[in-house]
Amino acid sequence: MTGPRFTDLVASLPASVPFVGPETQERARGRPFRARLGANESLFGPSPRAVAAMQEAARETWKYGDSQNHDLRAALAADLGVAPENVMVGEGIDGLLGYLVRMLVGPGDTVVTSAGAYPTFNYHVVGFGGFLQMVPFAGDHEDPDALIARARAVGAKLVYLSNPDNPMGSWHPAERVQQMIEAVPDGTLMILDEAYIEFAPGGTAPPIDPDDPRVIRFRTFSKAHGLAGARVGYAIGAAPLIAAFDRVRNHFGMCRISQAGALASLSDPAWLAEVKAQVAAARDRIASIARENGLTPLPSAANFVTVDCGADGDFARAVLAELARRDVFVRMPGVAPLDRCIRVSAGPEDHLAVLAEELPAALAAARG
Ligand SMILES: Cc1ncc(COP(=O)(O)O)c(C=O)c1O
Repeated sequence: MTGPRFTDLVASLPASVPFVGPETQERARGRPFRARLGANESLFGPSPRAVAAMQEAARETWKYGDSQNHDLRAALAADLGVAPENVMVGEGIDGLLGYLVRMLVGPGDTVVTSAGAYPTFNYHVVGFGGFLQMVPFAGDHEDPDALIARARAVGAKLVYLSNPDNPMGSWHPAERVQQMIEAVPDGTLMILDEAYIEFAPGGTAPPIDPDDPRVIRFRTFSKAHGLAGARVGYAIGAAPLIAAFDRVRNHFGMCRISQAGALASLSDPAWLAEVKAQVAAARDRIASIARENGLTPLPSAANFVTVDCGADGDFARAVLAELARRDVFVRMPGVAPLDRCIRVSAGPEDHLAVLAEELPAALAAARG
């Protein structure tokens, strides 16, 4: 009997996952976390309007969702000042990144990103046989000049920048990002991942030029809108590129309940403003917890704070493990020298109080 005959590409892929989810960790530990501060979800939850709309839509789930995401695309387009033809809705940024990579990257094609930047993007590139070229961060920032120089040197199909950045929480002002867009070499498409843009100071997002073929931007309902489990993201780009998603996407992949929740959330800007205020306060609280313990919080334009533990990756990994042992879920960057840090998601006081309570003992244990 022969087993399934995988393609050569799939047979060659590592059996790795970009992130081990908190539930997986809880099953392995045999008990739940008390503070869920690792996945940059919005612990402040979705808008009550979104919840009501999703409850209502639950009754209608015998119907497939609208395969064109018509209403949500129209509402997003109106919000962004672009045409619906410039917007594609999909199963989170993660899902859309997969479609984009499938469209543009074949075996042997080169893609440029930063060492330590968002790993799910890398996972898709490798999954379609692409070759990753990584440039180092400049300090705690992604380095637009180095990214462009490398993309030019290797003839990259794609170059990836996240602004604000995950995992460091750093950001570049709009002018710097626009300069990067202007410098994108011929034949390269820039991915501007703006998953955290709602939390950034004004002047972080360059103006949207919907006809610019050099860049595609990604945003999500997973962060500020508190709908990570609903899996709704969107891409903004030139109409021909956006239309090309129809060649590869899962046309009925969007959940009807999720479509309703996202649409309702867009109509509740007051909720978004409230969440942003809560996130700003939580960032301050995380920063003071870090300082009280002799650690250095990095400035953040996202819904998390990256905390420099003041030593090497082994020490930060030990802190992370000791926090997990004390039922606190946080994550950390995967690549040196960024891995001297742990990354703590913003959350309400009951979660942050657990962090404040457990961090001193976790640090002491990590110091041995
Ligand atoms: C930089 C970045 N991009 C994309 C995502 C995933 O977004 P989504 O939930 O829309 O797939 C995340 C989530 O942590 C992220 O940090």
